[in-house]
Amino acid sequence: MEAGRGSRFPRTGRPQSLSGESEVHGGEKDDGRHDEIAHESSTLGKLRDVWMLVQWSGLGRETGVVALGANSRPNRTRKAWALYRRHETSRDPVARLSDLNDFEGSRIVVIDKPESVQMKIQDLRHVGLLSPAIAAHAKFYLEAWGLQSAGEDQHARYFRGSSTEHHILSLHPADRRGLHHLAFSVDGREAVDAAATELERRGTTIVARADELDQPGGGYGLRFLDPENRCIELSADVTGHSSGSWAEGVGPRRLCHVVLNTARFDQVVEFYTAVLGFRVSDWNENQMAFLRCSRKHHVIAFNRLDHASVNHVAYVMADVDGVMRGLSNLRARGQEPDWGPGRHGPGNNIFCYYKDPAGYVSEFSSDMEHIEDEAAHEPAVWRRVPEQIDRWGTAGPPSADVRKAMAGDPDPGWPVKDTPR
Ligand SMILES: [Fe+2]
Repeated sequence: MEAGRGSRFPRTGRPQSLSGESEVHGGEKDDGRHDEIAHESSTLGKLRDVWMLVQWSGLGRETGVVALGANSRPNRTRKAWALYRRHETSRDPVARLSDLNDFEGSRIVVIDKPESVQMKIQDLRHVGLLSPAIAAHAKFYLEAWGLQSAGEDQHARYFRGSSTEHHILSLHPADRRGLHHLAFSVDGREAVDAAATELERRGTTIVARADELDQPGGGYGLRFLDPENRCIELSADVTGHSSGSWAEGVGPRRLCHVVLNTARFDQVVEFYTAVLGFRVSDWNENQMAFLRCSRKHHVIAFNRLDHASVNHVAYVMADVDGVMRGLSNLRARGQEPDWGPGRHGPGNNIFCYYKDPAGYVSEFSSDMEHIEDEAAHEPAVWRRVPEQIDRWGTAGPPSADVRKAMAGDPDPGWPVKDTPR
């Protein structure tokens, strides 16, 4: 086990659709039967939680197809995945062949690679929040939180951090709280188009087809709905700022992560992994899933609750000094942290949480863990005990008040039948 990571123990209540030996489907050794297996794999590919399918054939051993998913559990499946990754990244063909022949005396052939792994989501770009208190809300993020204005239009007010990202937060005047949309960057316009094709193929509700984006920063993107009607935007070619607009360490750089409450935990985690290509970095028992799209431990996390809502939004500070300067800055304005400072277990990030004037919870964060070895990383299951949630013991348990704020208001999501907001 990696130093400092959570202990691993059997999970309960996890998706079981492709677990254990049930992942193995009978097949033929003969490569000439690939068509048949490919047909089977395309059927399997429609199942949730599948990254790719490999076939192995052994010497007098069982043969078959193994489905590798974001939540693959059996040692054999994880081993096959690790071998495949080494095969994919190795520049030494002999080593690659050796690897492939070293899988329990069997040969592994990759026969399918669902398109979800080619969604090419790169990073969390910005979050849009409905604001029933727009004036006080905007004032807080400009004067206390350390963001700067990135413009406004008839729909919203936009805020940037010190990174080059055009804006990281937009506040949309409304009569209730809720998520307006969540935007991720993808690797170019072709990736936007490829994502559109894949999402349409899967029957995902598209609320704005791939096109030039009519918002500050422009770019090219599309919007669609996840299983709980959250509006998700994928974009490329957004105009950025030149960096260093103000001193580093004074305010947030960019978004760190967004945590969302969900009443459909398993379904939502599977959608984000199997369809959008996120990987599970860690679990918090059967309560939270931390998902990454790059080496950063998580850019999005889901928390099991009885309704969908925004749990909190975290902003990247330069380092622990930045977090403490942020704390100092708010203290000077008479606002104390609602939870923290402290250091979390999953992600190992330093945290300090505040309620904003609209009642959302925002977090200063730094020092997020990076996954250095994608092939070797296995999600850990962290226990929901104080020493794993608050590793320094400085924050204590979250109060009932901040837990209530993190629960948010039940959010029906994007109004499908209305014109896009
Ligand atoms: Fe957080």
